[in-house]
Amino acid sequence: MSAPPPVITVDGPSGVGKGMVTRGLMQRFPGWHRLDSGALYRILALAAMRAGLDLGDPDAVAALAPRLDIHFGGSSEDDESIRLDGVEIVDQVRSETAGGLASKIATAPVVRDALLQRQRDFRQAPGLVADGRDMGTVVFTDAAVKIFLTASPEERARRRAKQLSARGEVVRLADLSAEIRARDERDRTRAVAPLVPAPDAIEIDTSSLNPAQVFERIDELLKTRGLLR
Ligand code: DC
Repeated sequence: MSAPPPVITVDGPSGVGKGMVTRGLMQRFPGWHRLDSGALYRILALAAMRAGLDLGDPDAVAALAPRLDIHFGGSSEDDESIRLDGVEIVDQVRSETAGGLASKIATAPVVRDALLQRQRDFRQAPGLVADGRDMGTVVFTDAAVKIFLTASPEERARRRAKQLSARGEVVRLADLSAEIRARDERDRTRAVAPLVPAPDAIEIDTSSLNPAQVFERIDELLKTRGLLR
């Protein structure tokens, strides 16, 4: 049997630079596939709301997961497209509201199980870059490289505010900080697949690093693992 395609995982809380790192990796590995696992949780939460389901009923939410017809398109933050049943929903998916709802449904083991195989299906040749909270600890435990990003809550709130205002969403920094802290707490303390670094993950604190400095570390890592020359 041939070896499964290589996976690079990028985990960490929101606003930590996972999107930037993932895009940089995609440039280094042309043709590789991408899994934005957070988007799957966000889409499932939105779809459940639209279907009039009670988000506090994890069995009902999980039952919806296999039926979602999702299409990811675009190659950058600016031309990103996410269609659900043929309808463009990228702005709703990226909203802070969807992030909060996703974090809530994500605490239920039955919901996480329902999305597990769907996430693993993204692993196709020539390789996969997967970002989220538990890519290295649960979904792709055999990943070739595991990156875990951290940054101070203040810096993350600032970055999220910038991203959201670029999308025309008006947010108060203080509200965003509080929302980020609440979401972190929920993601870190949940019983199943909590947000923690895998034992074999490389941690990078991006608080005071610019993208070029973050990639100096990542490129070095990729070279030692034989993925980059
Ligand atoms: O990365 P994000 O902000 O799009 O994720 C939204 C929420 O989805 C996050 O707060 C927790 C949940 N999530 C998860 O539980 N596991 C993942 N692998 C990705 C996201």
